[in-house]
Amino acid sequence: MDLFQKCRDYMEPTLAKQAGYYPYFQVIDSESDSKVSIGGRDLVMLGSNNYLGLTTHPHVRERAAWALEKFGPSCTGSRLLNGNFNIHEELEERLAAFVGKEATLVFSTGFQTNLGTISALIGRHDTVVIDKDDHASIYDGCKLSYGKTVRYEHNDMASLRKVLESTPDNGGGVMVVTDGVFSMEGDIAPLPEMIALCKEFGARLMVDDAHASGVLGPRGEGTSAHFGVTDDVDLMMGTFSKSFASLGGFIAGDADVIDYIRHNSRPFIFSAAMAPASVGACLGALDVMETEPEHRENLWKTVQRMQSEYRRMGFDTGTSETPVIPIILGDEMLVYAFWRNLLDEGVFVNPVRPPAVPAGRALLRTSYMATHTEEQMDFVLSAFEKIGHKLGVLS
Ligand SMILES: Cc1ncc(COP(=O)(O)O)c(C=O)c1O
Repeated sequence: MDLFQKCRDYMEPTLAKQAGYYPYFQVIDSESDSKVSIGGRDLVMLGSNNYLGLTTHPHVRERAAWALEKFGPSCTGSRLLNGNFNIHEELEERLAAFVGKEATLVFSTGFQTNLGTISALIGRHDTVVIDKDDHASIYDGCKLSYGKTVRYEHNDMASLRKVLESTPDNGGGVMVVTDGVFSMEGDIAPLPEMIALCKEFGARLMVDDAHASGVLGPRGEGTSAHFGVTDDVDLMMGTFSKSFASLGGFIAGDADVIDYIRHNSRPFIFSAAMAPASVGACLGALDVMETEPEHRENLWKTVQRMQSEYRRMGFDTGTSETPVIPIILGDEMLVYAFWRNLLDEGVFVNPVRPPAVPAGRALLRTSYMATHTEEQMDFVLSAFEKIGHKLGVLS
């Protein structure tokens, strides 16, 4: 059998394109902002993770340009050997102070941060316990580790307890890993209850704050600060590809744990360092998060308005409490029809189907940013109402 036969038989994208329902790899020909241009047409962007809108902030762009100019376009190697620049260390120190942990380590992507952290820490005799709805990078970090992986039902503390109770003592340790804010449905992990369970069973807790950094907590420190439990969360992970308007990721925790990861994480050691312009943008984004609370305030004003308007109209937005607001439609074909109608009206959203969400929960993922205007949101709401009636979602 030719290895490539499966590729030749793979018709799904072609068929979807022929039917006019292929939503992926849309070609955007403008900068990333609350409005984007596709094929020369302007659309309101409800599909990005640019929560604070910092991709267009002059200070963030200026710091990225400064780093590019001073350090060049690439570090041309791993931090371990030739790619460790002073701005990497400056960023790590600033982040540690910002999130309230002893130390941090930055990676070149958020995905790599989860791969590199979980696989470095979970050895042959250890167990990693994950929420069923955790991000793909957490699943893949578990696959890359030599330990055992066990899943519990989404945000279900009785299920987590059961898993922890039945985890055999293999002479190793246990780490529970959860998204802080779940990326598809925008709900928040119940960290205080999780901490109590972890303490009871002697497990460590790691929280992925990809969608919480810059968003939750008094200054955007993340989910732990939101609940006031930073000291009880062992490891906090974040990405720079969302609120930080950059690319990369970080893991924060006790200095000895971070130092262990620095010397034992293969995805960290055997990959090139975060690019200077990305580091510069992060330093700029931190300056903004520390001094300009108005971005987070604007974001939350928009989120509250949209959340209450969608619910008032009769859409099912699940248990979202954050700038990720799902419009849960259930049926996959209905999701594609709704997505297509929104695109034609001038609204960009992400259609999401299983396995990214559980079966029967296909949804439109909408997300908001500090730079969305009232007029843009009026436009979006009237498009949703019109299409909702047209497709029979609203009565
Ligand atoms: C919860 C979560 N963790 C990790 C990642 C990976 O981050 P990045 O895209 O910055 O590599 C993502 C990205 O979508 C995410 O949503």
